[in-house]
Amino acid sequence: MQIYLDNAATSYPKPVAVADSVYNFMINNGTTSGRGSYKKAMESDRLIYETRKLIADLFNFNNTKKVIFTSNVTESLNLAINGILNEGDHVVTSSIEHNAVWRCLKTLERDKGISITKVKASKEGYTNPEDVEKSIRENTKLIIFTHASNVLGTIQPIREIGKIAKNHNIPFLVDAAQTAGAYPIDIQKDNINLLAFTGHKSLLGPMGTGGLVVNWDKNIQPLKAGGTGGDSAYEYQPDYYPNRLETGTLNVSGLVGLRESIKFINKESIETIHNKEKELVKYALNKLDKIDGLKIYGPKDSEKIVSVISFNIKDLRPEDVGFELDNKYSIMVRAGLHCAPNAHELIGTKATGCVRIGIGYFNKKEDIDILANSLIEIIKTYEI
Ligand SMILES: Cc1ncc(COP(=O)(O)O)c(C=O)c1O
Repeated sequence: MQIYLDNAATSYPKPVAVADSVYNFMINNGTTSGRGSYKKAMESDRLIYETRKLIADLFNFNNTKKVIFTSNVTESLNLAINGILNEGDHVVTSSIEHNAVWRCLKTLERDKGISITKVKASKEGYTNPEDVEKSIRENTKLIIFTHASNVLGTIQPIREIGKIAKNHNIPFLVDAAQTAGAYPIDIQKDNINLLAFTGHKSLLGPMGTGGLVVNWDKNIQPLKAGGTGGDSAYEYQPDYYPNRLETGTLNVSGLVGLRESIKFINKESIETIHNKEKELVKYALNKLDKIDGLKIYGPKDSEKIVSVISFNIKDLRPEDVGFELDNKYSIMVRAGLHCAPNAHELIGTKATGCVRIGIGYFNKKEDIDILANSLIEIIKTYEI
């Protein structure tokens, strides 16, 4: 039996209906969207429109045209960050960002002279909103926060941070990579201006899908220029949405899969998914915490984290633990820095990394039992 516990990297398995819908589209339709006027292409347009609408509804947003599709959350974040920040601007962000945000900011710091304030989180990865407010300057042009850390799982107080951003009239960008699909997100109530999401994690869709929801009236500079299927004689990127920010042929087959996965999520309900994952996380925290020599990072509280648990065992190298779990027990986890060196710096594991399990909707308590027993055996083997 194989046990997949790397859902924080990408979810697996996907609902069968998702794979079926991609297959059916590729076999029976296969046309591009926003380009042709024949019947099959119009059907493609309809499928894309429905996907936009499902995304908008999922996040309580009412402007379908401002749901921009990208290939993943990394592209969405690059689009928002590069499209807003200019030379000399200041940005406020968390101290646990993924490289999808951090490298983008560091590049702009080097190449355009922007300045960055990294708001220090507690050792458990929690950011105090007051510290965010204190970091705001006259030239602060963007506040960026991950909704939940992909290393510690810690959920950030985005509603409060969003409120602060709103009071200061600064756009608020949220990286929802670890929450979209498994945790309730309400763009209005959470005061989010720009919501970046990826389709292949808790949204249970195919890789190569993602997007940016733009709840902001000011202009964002496009990341790319090119064909949009209309107004082709005009020599610049059109001003209207989604075409202003969405260029080139869309990943229609992938988005058809995303449409199906959101339907699945709606049928199950975010609440059911969230509660089931919370229950599994609570169970796993309890089991892992009892293992002698195993140190868990981040809050040991399923109410405060998403379905990510990171740990180290005595002085074993995390890569060795990951290798043993895979090799001997067919358990898939992720070891290392998880593309988030800042979060590791916070918990003191930047030099070593750690082991991370990412629990998904399709995991069972039995998977956690097998993981815990395997870890106990690995510890025993290394002690001999
Ligand atoms: C918090 C966070 N941001 C960004 C990303 C990047 O996701 P993607 O590779 O889908 O762009 C990830 C996933 O690895 C993540 O966990």
